Amino acid sequence: PVVGQEIPHEAAALHVTGDALYTDDLAVRTHGILHAHPVQAPHAHARITRLDTSPALAVPGVVRVLTVDDVPGVNDAGVKHDEPLFPSEVMFYGHAVCWVLGETLEAARLGSLAVEVDYDPLPSLVTVHEAIEAESFQGGQPHMERGDIEAGFEGAAHVFSGEFEFAGQEHFYLETHCSIALVDENGQIFIQSSTQHPTETQDIVAHVLGLASNAVTVQCLRMGGGFGGKEMQPHGYAAIAALGATLTGRPVRLRLTRTQDMTMSGKRHGFHAGWRVAFDDNGVLQALDATLTSDGGWSLDLSEPVLARALCHIDNTYWIPNIRVNGRIAKTHKTSQTAFRGFGGPQGMLVIEDILGRCAPLLGIDPIDLRRRNFYVEGQDTPYGQPVRHPERSGICWDQVLSTGEVLARRAEIAAYNASHEHSKRALAMTPVKFGISFNFTSFNQAGALVHVYKDGSVLITHGGTEMGQGLHTKMLQVAATSLGVPLSVVRLAPTRTDKVPNTSATAASSGADLNGGAVKNACEQIVERLRPLREDPANAGLDWAALVNKAYFSRIQLWAAGFYKTEGLHWDSSIMHGSPFKYFSYGVAASEVEVDGFTGAYRLRRVDIVHDVGDSLSPLVDIGQIEGAFVQGAGWLTLEDLRWDESDRPSRGRLATQAASTYKLPSFSEMPEVFNVALLERAHEDGAVYGSKAVGEPPLMLAFSVREALREAAAAFGPTGTSVDLASPATPEAVYWAVEEARGGA
Ligand code: MTE
Ligand code: MOS
Repeated sequence: PVVGQEIPHEAAALHVTGDALYTDDLAVRTHGILHAHPVQAPHAHARITRLDTSPALAVPGVVRVLTVDDVPGVNDAGVKHDEPLFPSEVMFYGHAVCWVLGETLEAARLGSLAVEVDYDPLPSLVTVHEAIEAESFQGGQPHMERGDIEAGFEGAAHVFSGEFEFAGQEHFYLETHCSIALVDENGQIFIQSSTQHPTETQDIVAHVLGLASNAVTVQCLRMGGGFGGKEMQPHGYAAIAALGATLTGRPVRLRLTRTQDMTMSGKRHGFHAGWRVAFDDNGVLQALDATLTSDGGWSLDLSEPVLARALCHIDNTYWIPNIRVNGRIAKTHKTSQTAFRGFGGPQGMLVIEDILGRCAPLLGIDPIDLRRRNFYVEGQDTPYGQPVRHPERSGICWDQVLSTGEVLARRAEIAAYNASHEHSKRALAMTPVKFGISFNFTSFNQAGALVHVYKDGSVLITHGGTEMGQGLHTKMLQVAATSLGVPLSVVRLAPTRTDKVPNTSATAASSGADLNGGAVKNACEQIVERLRPLREDPANAGLDWAALVNKAYFSRIQLWAAGFYKTEGLHWDSSIMHGSPFKYFSYGVAASEVEVDGFTGAYRLRRVDIVHDVGDSLSPLVDIGQIEGAFVQGAGWLTLEDLRWDESDRPSRGRLATQAASTYKLPSFSEMPEVFNVALLERAHEDGAVYGSKAVGEPPLMLAFSVREALREAAAAFGPTGTSVDLASPATPEAVYWAVEEARGGA
C-alpha cells in the first residue's frame, strides 16, 4: 500500500528551491493591493484619551486609517469576546490601537507614525508573581483530584515540596502572520490567511463585518510554520484586512514584520508551579499536591484548554495514587499567550519531571530507576479517570533505548570521564513521554473531506486540515491513494478552503492526520463502494482504473463524495476534570548526553537516542522529521530561548526586550545533537486509528526533557555525590553556570 511508504514531503522540492508559495507571495500577484501597518502603543497598560488620525491622512500614499468607528459588526477578535479588535484600553506594550492602509508599506508605516494618540497610563502587572499577589486571574479554575491526598502524605516515608517558575516560548515560525483580503466578483469576501483554523478565521471575520458565514471564504494554501501560534491568533489580522478591503474596495495585505509579530502575537504560556510530593521508601510515588498558575497575558484566548491539558499531563507516564491539582490563569499585561506545540502538556509534564529530577538525589535513587519504577501498568487509570491503554509501551521504548543507546556502558564511561575532569562534567539522562491524542473538548474531534474522481480517472482531494510543514497533505495523498487503490501519481490535493469543506476544527492537537485521514478514507470508500458492481462484473475484468472510471461515468455513477469522520468513544466533563478525553496515548523515550563546562556553564549535546511510538507509520520520513524537529524545538524551549519582558518601573515597563533573532536565541545547526538516533517503535499497530497509525506532531517535543535532566545531573556532578540542584528553565548556559555554582556550594 501507499501508506507506510517512505516518500518525501509533498512540497519538499518546492520548499528547498524557494518555489513554494506562501500567503504573502500572493500579494505580488494581486493588482492594486493596499498595505496595512499598525500603530502600536508604547505602554503596558493605559487608557486611550485621544486618537487623531487626520495627520496620517496627509501623508502621501496613505489611503485610510481603520479605527473602531469603521466596524460594522462586533469589535472583537476573540472567541471569548474579551479581545477588542480596536481597544479603548491598551492591555500590553505594543498593542495595536489602529491600522493605517497605504499604497505602499512605507507609506502606511509613515502614516502610522503620524497618527496622534494620547494615553493615560495605568498600573500594570507584568510577571506571574505580580498577578498572583494582586489576585489577578481570568477564566475558570480547574480542579482535578483522585484518591485521598491527606492519607497519601501522612503514611509516606519522604515528603518534599518546592516551587518552580518556567518560561514560555516564542513560536518563531519562519512565516510571520499574514492575511490578504479582497471582495471577489461575486461580492464574496475572500481571505487568504496563514491560519491553522480557517473556519474560526471565517467566523471572526464574519462577526467583525456583521455578515453571515456564507459571505466569507477563507483559504490557507500552506503555512511556513504554525506550531499552535496560528490556531487562534490569525483571526484579528484577517479581520483587519477584510475590513480594509470592504471599506476601500481594494485588496488589502497585512503581513507582520518579525518584530511586530513577536511584540503583538501570543506565545507559549510560562507557568508557576507550587508542589508537595510524597514517596515511599522505594521511591514509589504516593501523593502529589500541586497548584499550576499559567501566565495567560491580557486575554483568555486558548488559556483554558491549555491549562486543562497541563493538568491532564502532570502524571506523564507515572502512576500517582493520590493526587490533587489546582489550576489558575494569571491575567497580566502581556501578549495573550496561546497554543504552542504540546498545548499545555509540556508545562504539566515539566513539573513532574522537575520534581523527579530534584528528588532522585534526595531519595538516593538513580533517576533512571526512579522514573522506571513509577511507570503505569495495565489496569491503572489517569488522575482524570481514563484507563491507560498500552502502558507497557513506555517500558518497551525504555528498554530499547537502554540497549540501542548503550546506556549502561556509556554511563560507566561518563563516570570515568567525570572522575578525571575537574572542570568539565558529562551526564546522561532518560525521560519518557505519554501524550493524550484528541481534543479534550469532544465536539472538536470531527473532520470532513471532499474527493473528486474525474472522468479520466484523475483524483482531486480537499480536506479540512491545513499544511504547516508537518506533512499532513503528504499523508492525506497517501491515504487517498491507498483507499482508492490507485498510484500516488493519480491523486492531487487542492488548498484548504472553507467553501470546499465547512465547519472544520483547527489543525491542532496533533490530530490532523487521524481526523482528516478518517474523512478522506470515508469519502474514498464511498466511491469504491459505488464502483464495486462494475469492478465485479466479469465483463470489466481487464479494465484499468481510468477505463473503469470512464465506464462508471457513462453508467451514471456518482464519482465524487464528501467524507466525514468523528472519533468514537470519547467523553469529557471539564467541570470536574473527569472522563476519557483521549482516543489513545502516544509513547516515547529519549536518552540525552551532555557535557558542561564548569567555567562558563556552556554545554554540548553529545548524543541523543529516541524510540517513539507512531503506531504503523503513515509516512515514515515525515514522522522521523517530525520527531527530530519537535525534539529540537523542545530543547530550544528548555535550554536556549529566553523571553525577557521589561519588569522595571521605567516607561518601557512591559516591553518585550527580546523582539528579534538577534536577542532571542533559537536552536540552529550548531545546537543539533552531535549524534542523533531516532527509531520508530515497531509492531505498534493502533486499533481504530487510520491504517493503524498514531499522531506525531506534538508528543516528541517533550522528549527534550532528557536534555534538561542531563544538564541538571552534569551540574550536580560538580558537587559531592547526592547533590540535588534546582535548574532554571530555560537552562541557558548562564542558568547552568548558577546550578554548577550551587552544586559546588558556592551560590
Ligand atoms: N511541524 C511543522 N513543520 N510545522 C508546524 O507548524 N506544528 C505542530 C506539529 N508539527 C508544526 C509541525 C503542531 S503544534 C501541531 S498541533 C501539529 O503539527 C499539527 O499538525 P497535525 O495535527 O497534522 O500533526
Ligand atoms: Mo498544536 S499547539 O495543537 O497547534
